[in-house]
Order: sequence, then C-alpha cells, then structure tokens
Amino acid sequence: MSLTLEPAADPDDDASNPSTARPFSEIAGARLSRRSVLAGGVLAAAGFLTTSLVGPPAAVAAPPGGQDRGGRGLLGFEPVPPGTADEVIVPRGYTARPFIPWGTPILGSFPAFAPGTAEEGGPAGNTAAEQAEQIGMHHDGMTYFPLHSGRRGNEHGLLVLNHEYTDEYYLHRAQFVDGYKPTSAEGVRKSQNAHGVSVVEIERARSGEWQVKRSPRNRRITATTPMSFSGPAAGHRLLRTAADPAGSTPLGTINNCGNGETPWGTYLTCEENFNGYFRVDPGHGGEDAALQTRYGVGGDRNGWAAHDPRFVVRAGDANEPNRFGWVVEIDPLNPRSAPVKRTALGRLKHEDATVHVSRGGRVVVYMGDDQVNEYVYKFVSAANWRSMRARGTSPLDEGTLYVARFTDDGRGEWVPLVHGQHGLTPENGFADQGDVLVKTRQAADRVGATPMDRPEWTAVDPRSGTVYVTLTNNTGRTIANAANPRTRNQWGHIVRWDEDHGDHTATGFSWDVFLLAGPGDGADGSTIAAEDAFGSPDGLWLDPDSRAWIQTDGTQPGGANNQMLAADPYRTDRNGVPEVRRFLTGARQCEVTGIAMTPDQRTLFVNLQHPGEDGDSSWPGLDGVTTPRSATVVVARDDGGVIGS
Ligand code: FEO
Ligand code: CA
Ligand code: CA
Repeated sequence: MSLTLEPAADPDDDASNPSTARPFSEIAGARLSRRSVLAGGVLAAAGFLTTSLVGPPAAVAAPPGGQDRGGRGLLGFEPVPPGTADEVIVPRGYTARPFIPWGTPILGSFPAFAPGTAEEGGPAGNTAAEQAEQIGMHHDGMTYFPLHSGRRGNEHGLLVLNHEYTDEYYLHRAQFVDGYKPTSAEGVRKSQNAHGVSVVEIERARSGEWQVKRSPRNRRITATTPMSFSGPAAGHRLLRTAADPAGSTPLGTINNCGNGETPWGTYLTCEENFNGYFRVDPGHGGEDAALQTRYGVGGDRNGWAAHDPRFVVRAGDANEPNRFGWVVEIDPLNPRSAPVKRTALGRLKHEDATVHVSRGGRVVVYMGDDQVNEYVYKFVSAANWRSMRARGTSPLDEGTLYVARFTDDGRGEWVPLVHGQHGLTPENGFADQGDVLVKTRQAADRVGATPMDRPEWTAVDPRSGTVYVTLTNNTGRTIANAANPRTRNQWGHIVRWDEDHGDHTATGFSWDVFLLAGPGDGADGSTIAAEDAFGSPDGLWLDPDSRAWIQTDGTQPGGANNQMLAADPYRTDRNGVPEVRRFLTGARQCEVTGIAMTPDQRTLFVNLQHPGEDGDSSWPGLDGVTTPRSATVVVARDDGGVIGS
C-alpha cells in the first residue's frame, strides 16, 4: 500500500536574508577549478552563467585538485549504479546491515519498539516515556568514540548520534489530526522525546555484527533535557525568559543536524531548523520582531505550542527561540553531565561544526548556516586548547567568531564578528558581544558576508589542511557570482579553500570550486562525469586517507534515490575534475547523512534518515515491522579491508 503523505517541504529553501543584493552586485568574476573552467564553455553556451568562469590563478599555494599523483589513487571499489529500489546497495565485496533503527530500546525498562496503526482509534505505538528510553527518530550527524586505545577500540565504543526531526505521521499514526500534528500533551512529549541525541554503547560480536550493550553510559538527550549556557552570551538579556530569569539554564536541544568532535573527547551537536517549532502570538515589534523575521521563527510545525507553553512566543516573554540555534557540547562519557550551549560559536541554523587543531594548538571550528543566501563561519579559540583547559577555561568559550567573504579573484577574507568593530556598535543595535552572538545573522549582514547556496557540512583534509563546504542547492538564485556560479542552482556544488600560509587561524584564504554536481558531462553545468551523477551534496567528511565522502539530501538526477559517493581530491583528470565513484545508494525517500568510522577504518557507520517520508518505503523491514524507520547502516568489507580503498 502506498500512503499519500504531503511531500516534505524543505524550510531551507525559503530565504530570510533580505540583504543579498549588495554582496552579489559587488562580485563580477568567477573562479573554478581547471576542469570547471573548461566545462564553462558548456555552461555559458547553455545560458547557465551570467558571469565569466575564467579567473586568475590562486595567489597562494593551490588546493590539491589538478595535481594527479598518479598510481592507484584512493578509490579501490567498483562503483554501484544509481538506486531506485527500497534497499541499501553497496559495492561488490561489501556488506551493509541496518542497525539501531528509531525505537530501539537502550535504557531503563528497554521497551520494545511498537509501531502505531493507521486505523482510527488504533494503538499509537510506544508511549512518550518509552520513547525516552529508545533511539530517537531521524538519525543524522554521528561520531564513534572508541572505549579503548589500540585494536580493542575498533570493536567497542560509544556511538553518539543526532535525531534531526520527526515524521509525526509515523510517530503517532492513528493519533494525529490536521497536518500530522500530535493532538495531546502525551503526543507532544513523545515528539519531544524522539528529538535530540542518543548515546549508545556498542560492541562487535565474533560474528562481525554490532550489538547494543545494556550500559550505564547509554543516554537520551531530548527537547526537555536541562542544559546550561556558557560563553559571552550566557545570562544575556535576550536569553532570559519568565521561566529562567537568569538566562542560564535552557531546556533541551532540537533539530540536531550535523556534528563535530573535540580533541578533548566531547561531542558537538548542532541546532539547525529550530525556528519552525514555535507559535508566535501577535504583538511583537522592534528587536523581537526583527529577530523573529531574520531567523524565520514561527509555524508551529510539530504542534507543540498547543500543549507546551514554552513554544509559544509572547510579547514581553519572546526570548525562548533565542535559546536555540547554538552548538551544544556533550560529554559522552559522563551521562550525568549537563550539555552546554557554547554561545561563542554564534547563533544560526547550525549545520555542522568541524573542529580542526591549528599549528600552535588553537582550535578552529568551521560551520555552515543552512538556508538559502546564508553564510560560512569559523571560530578560533583564544589560545592553545590544552593551556586553556589547564586553567579551567573551555576553548569554545573564549575566542573570535568570523564570517566568510568570498571575492571574485579566488581570494577570501574572514571578517571578525567582534563588538565595536566593522559597525557592530550600539547605534547599529549591538550593545555588547552578547548582542552580536544572539543576532549572529544580523551581525554578519552588517559586515558584508557573502550569501551562499545553502552552506551545509564542512570538512578538513587531514593531509593538506584544505577546507571544504557543501552548498546543497539554491533554485532561487537569479544572479550568479564567483563562489555560487550557477543561477537556478538545482544540483549544488562544493567549494574549498586553503587558509593563508597553511594557518587555520589566518584571516585570508584562497578558494576554488571543487565540483559542480548534476547530471554530469556538462549537463546543467555539472563538472562531474555522467556515471557519477548526483545532486544536493549535504553530508561531507574527509577520512584519515583524505577520501572525500559526499552524502546527498534532495532531488537526484533521473529521480534516483539519495546516495553516498567518494571522491579522490588527489586524482584528477587532465581538466582538474576529481575522480568520483558512487559507493552507496539508499532506500526510497531517505536522505543519506551522518558518517563515522572505527579508527582502523574497517567499520563504517552511515545514517539513512526519513525513508518513506512520502509513504513509499518499508525499510529497514526488521522483525516484520513495515513502518519505515530511520536507522544507522553498518558497512564492512567482506575481506576486512579499509573502507573505500
Ligand atoms: Fe539538516 Fe541542512 O541539513
Ligand atoms: Ca544535512
Ligand atoms: Ca539537507
């Protein structure tokens, strides 16, 4: 049976940045990798470009693209064809197994998963309390933390994963009414408990299969878990509410998208589309209204407002939405620790947070704000992370937040978002650094950041230090610029840069376009080969060998299922195009997102999110359950080799 569900709307397709015109018009040229320059002839002929594609050579050392190392290259697997079936396909010689689907018991009384039924008055499945003891819905960003050094760490660890949002239809089945929203306080609590983060201890059995341990380390963090604020905005007037007049103890985390991990062993979870969970009552003006508009607050997408007053934004008590949109730090080894919202990293629709240790030991965190015409950011800690921690200061609490300005000559600049500089002054609405951080988007507008085609995941090449960002799509773009070279950018692209002098704390960089996705062979301006066709790059990670793993979320060429590909940045054809191979195709209507490996790179964890979101999937089909469920996929090579090689 095929259900008729409303196609999921992507809120990131709606711009809430009014300030796009000025930066676009400042940019006249374009810069692409060498192959892209060649393909530009195709693009221009097809009318896809409004600017020249040919830019001057980079002013400093070029990123690795265009330098064919020769030899075998990084990709050793046989690519798979585009997928359309309701299953996961991996290359010959690999096995993929679904693992910890939504509803897997990990805590307390270990309640078994119970799906609801679609018949009116039928059972709704697990209770809210049971959901709080189970894996959440909509798996996303994920890190594997080994619990041992050495070989044993490849077989026993903590998997920490985000749950981005919920399909309320599948969560409640018979209990929903209009718009698939819960109709009771119990239903709202279940929805809130299906959000957040799961920490689960896992171990590989002799059979090679991974199993959940009944461990005291297992934990669920939800939309109601007590947390704290730290950094310059903690306690700020814009974070104070009637329920928390000190502005210091927020409740819960929502819409947890991508992730990061710190060198001191903690997990970072990123709050993305938090804005859609609130109902905004009338009567707002001034600063409150400006904040709500710039962040797109409103919509009550999940129906929480009717049963949880915290999600109603009232004039005079309008700050609850400001308590979301942060990067949240979790200590996975301490299940009693309160997660910390690190305000120094800014408030935006955080996609992910890639932590890189610079020369000299300062931590640098790269971050994208995923909405059309939003920006790319980085945070640089004030000092060496070890010395900061030794004196009891978090490296994520003191430092400088920057936003990226890409110019048409292949150069870029990191502009500091620091109170008192670049017009971030009281007369412009920024009374202190807390104002700058709560209103990060407005601050970035003020300093002239470059609006991008939906910045998603960032990644750093461990070999070269080159930084990558996926720009998933922007069909509303009418004026191309160098870093976003296609109007009506349906398929998305990947941009990368080298920080000046190889110093990740630098304020200047040189960039190029790594690839333009699409049907391939020049169609719609794509620079990849037709056999590697893909669109909407989203998840991104460079593994320890510098293989670039690209995951998709959105329309694929030919209507294929979402997928994961690998690229070799060091093996390019004579036109500078990196070698790309399709590694995995997902079930129907899922996105492929979140990636982690064991330290030996012999077990790969990947998430399939929202299979069957439009009604046409029963994946993973475990234990006779036909309700489609987000799940992790565990991939291994039959010969035990390194994944992808
Ligand atoms: Fe959560 Fe932008 O994907
Ligand atoms: Ca994503
Ligand atoms: Ca996405």
